[in-house]
Amino acid sequence: MNEVWTIAGQRPTTPCTIVIFGASGDLAARKLVPALYNLEHCGRELLASQMAILGFARREMSVEAFRAKAREGVARYSRLQLEEGCWDRFAQKLNYLSGLDSPEGFANLRKRLEEIEKERGLPPNRIYYLSIPPGAIREMVEKLDNAGLVARADAPYFTRLVVEKPIGSDLHSALQITLAIQKHFHESQIFRIDHYLGKETVQNLMVLRFANSIFENFWDNRSVDHVQITVAEEEGLGTRAMYYDEIGALRDMVQNHMLQVLTLTAMEPPVSLLADAVRDAKVNVLRCLRPIAREAVRSSVVRGQYADGMLGGEHVPGYLQEAGVSENSRTETFAALKVYVDNWRWAGVPFFLRTGKRLARRSSAVFVKFKRVPEILFNRYQALPPDVMTIRIQPDEGFSIDVLAKRPGLDLSIQKVRMDLHYSTEFSGPLADAYERLLLDVITGDHTLFQDDAFVHRSWEFVQPILDEWQRDASIPLEAYPAGSWGPKAADDLIRAEGRAWLGA
Ligand code: BG6
Repeated sequence: MNEVWTIAGQRPTTPCTIVIFGASGDLAARKLVPALYNLEHCGRELLASQMAILGFARREMSVEAFRAKAREGVARYSRLQLEEGCWDRFAQKLNYLSGLDSPEGFANLRKRLEEIEKERGLPPNRIYYLSIPPGAIREMVEKLDNAGLVARADAPYFTRLVVEKPIGSDLHSALQITLAIQKHFHESQIFRIDHYLGKETVQNLMVLRFANSIFENFWDNRSVDHVQITVAEEEGLGTRAMYYDEIGALRDMVQNHMLQVLTLTAMEPPVSLLADAVRDAKVNVLRCLRPIAREAVRSSVVRGQYADGMLGGEHVPGYLQEAGVSENSRTETFAALKVYVDNWRWAGVPFFLRTGKRLARRSSAVFVKFKRVPEILFNRYQALPPDVMTIRIQPDEGFSIDVLAKRPGLDLSIQKVRMDLHYSTEFSGPLADAYERLLLDVITGDHTLFQDDAFVHRSWEFVQPILDEWQRDASIPLEAYPAGSWGPKAADDLIRAEGRAWLGA
């Protein structure tokens, strides 16, 4: 039996009401409600029995209809099966209120919250989950406060605000949102979600680096040749044209998920495991990112848009043919970048980031490629490949190290071998969805896996010059790539120009 060291146990959850703004939308149906159901699932029962979940949206809908819609979402998207007993217990927690956009909407919200709290014997602990477009955040927080729905941070009962990425659509709007939120909520009440931080393998980056002594010894520019971070998706746009066509891959994935993974890969050991310490260590990496100057955008960044192609044996349409996309859209569905972390540890080591929709395979990973051994001894006779460590974020979560070994035999032949850990065989049980972990952390008030305002602003500061240059200079190519490929050729050229090649294809 393997020994387990528990550093922080599961904290008890406090009874509260979660209000989901935009509850009739996609995120609520696919992620939030199934995640809450999984927390409630029999045998786990992580939600306090009195706890309530109140859907709040524009759309007129009865409580019964909301419950039926939630049930459908759970049946379709939950990782744990819908079981009648668990469902019944969960369903009685669900409530719905329409009229988010009506003049009396927030007064009604207050009334309904008070009724629910009275009925269920709940203290007025409230979590407002804003699953709404970033443009609506400012108005919502203002209305919440005006309706007397925001308790002070030092009040005996808590009020917490959860905001989804992307926070803003550029640096300016992100700063405006921060100002608006902080006018009504204290920083300790704000939880900015980036669901990548809730993924097991992303959390494991810190454990791998700082709970083991071996890795830290070669985690720097003396040993590492370069780092690659790939987040490849097979999925196309789906039904999200309204959101995505205004956003594109740089804002949707790079500014947040990819920079989170980059900072966890590159950061210095934080001074402690406390939320502030971990968040500071990550922001320090952003402080060291070499800004991509206007003149360097062409040579350091590639943008692409998928054309039609074959994926999984099926012909799929190109981005411009997707429903809801404007016919001349210049929105990028692919981005590749070369970045540098200009600090003592990483000076001179390029980090290559790549993300795209409709790529050949769903595959997200961090690759750390080491330097070659000197051209003496074995490497003198044959150019031997360097070692590579791969941290697979998803799917097939795990990590591997490719090294060289002598192939048994009377000759001296060297072969690449892989030391490989798969979560599916090493650990028992399916992995929890990122939202389960993050929602639980909001309920228990743990900020460690959430972004602070500094991260949001610094990450926008980094991508802003790229957005500006793309906007200013329409002659910067938007490279077409066939669906089902690994992206445009220009992305291969970007990395080849540095004498490297993409890994993991
Ligand atoms: C979301 C993006 O934040 O992350 C989506 O808005 C993307 O466009 C998704 O598809 C990817 O998340 P995951 O967990 O499937 O890798």
